[in-house]
Amino acid sequence: PRVAVVFGGRSSEHGISVVTAGAVLKAIDRTKYDVLPIGITREGRWALTADEPERMAITDRRTPEVDDVAESGEGGVVLPLDPGNREVVVSEPGSVPKALGEVDVVFPVLHGPYGEDGTLQGLLELSGVPYVGSGVLASAVGQDKEYMKRVFTSFGLRVGPYVVIRPREWEQDEPAARKKIVDFAGEHGWPLFVKPARAGSSIGITKVDDIAGLGDAIAQAQRHDPKILVEAALRGREIECGVLEFEDGPRASVPSEIPPPDAHAYYDFEAKYIDSTPGIVPAPLTPEETAEVQRLAVDAFEAASCEGLVRADFFLTEDGEFVINEINTMPGMTPISMYPQMWQATGVSYPELVDKLIQAALR
Ligand code: DAL
Ligand code: MG
Repeated sequence: PRVAVVFGGRSSEHGISVVTAGAVLKAIDRTKYDVLPIGITREGRWALTADEPERMAITDRRTPEVDDVAESGEGGVVLPLDPGNREVVVSEPGSVPKALGEVDVVFPVLHGPYGEDGTLQGLLELSGVPYVGSGVLASAVGQDKEYMKRVFTSFGLRVGPYVVIRPREWEQDEPAARKKIVDFAGEHGWPLFVKPARAGSSIGITKVDDIAGLGDAIAQAQRHDPKILVEAALRGREIECGVLEFEDGPRASVPSEIPPPDAHAYYDFEAKYIDSTPGIVPAPLTPEETAEVQRLAVDAFEAASCEGLVRADFFLTEDGEFVINEINTMPGMTPISMYPQMWQATGVSYPELVDKLIQAALR
C-alpha cells in the first residue's frame, strides 16, 4: 500500500509534528509500504518533501520546519477531493499538474489545530481516503479541553475542577470574566493553570501563583485560542497511558510516570522536548493501580469514540484516585515521547506500532 505521511501544519506544534514524522518515516517498513512524505508549512501550503528523516530532528534546541525539507516549489501538493480518485498531484504555478500517484492511506502526523482537531479528518472523509487515527468527532473532542472534560464527566470519568472563559464573555464583560476566575481561585486555591482551550504540548499555558500574574497568563493563552480554560492545580502524580487499537479492539499499554518537576515549574514545552525530561516506564504503581489506570484509559478512548490510538494523561491524587487530565488523539511520537516508549515496554516496538496504526486504518 501507498502511505502519505502528512506533517507540520499550521499549529504551534508544527515543529514537534516534523520530529514525530521523521521518526515515523524512519520506522515505516519500506518493503511493505510505499511512502509519500507531504509537509504542510506554517502558512498552510502542502509541499512534497525530501524523504530524509535525519533532517527532521531537534538540533541546537530548535525544532525543524517543513520549509527545511520542502521540495515542491511555489505550488503545492493537492489531495483528491473526489472519492474514487485518490490520485495526489503536485501543482506548480504555470505548469500542468503532475500526478504523484494514488494513495491508499494517509497518516496525519499532525498535532493541534488544523490537523489533530477533525478539520483534516473531515477533508479526508470528503475525499474518501482512509487515514490513521480518530475520526472527525473524536479528533474535535480531543482537541477542545472544555468539551473533552464534558464528555469524560458524562461517561463517569473524574475530571479536575475547571472554569471556561469563552470569547464572547471576555469581549462583552472582561471584569465579570476576571471575577469568575478569581472566584474560582477563592474556591480551589492558587496556583491555577491558565490554558488555551485548543492547543497542545503545553504551549500557551501558564502556571499562575497569584492574582498579579493572571492578566499576562490570560493574554498568553488567548494568543493561541480566544477560548481559555482555567484549571485548579491537582496535587498528585502524573501518570500517562497509551491505547492502541488491535484487531480485537483497543488495549492499554503499561503506564508511565512523569517525574515531579525540579528545574521547571511543571512539565512544560522545554521540559518535554528541549530538555527531554525522561518519563519512568513502567510507572511504579501497584498492580491494582496499573489495572485501574489501564481500564480508565480504554474508557476514555471509548468515551470520545477514538480510533487507532490515544494517549490518556491522568493525575493520581493524594487520596488515591485517578483524575483524567486530557487525551491526545495524535500523541507525540518523537523518539523520546512517552507513547512509543510505553508501547515498547509493553512489547510493541516502534516499527510494529507504526505498522499496526496503518493496518488499523486500512481495515
Ligand atoms: N500534543 C503533544 C504532541 C502530545 O500530546 O504528545
Ligand atoms: Mg495535549
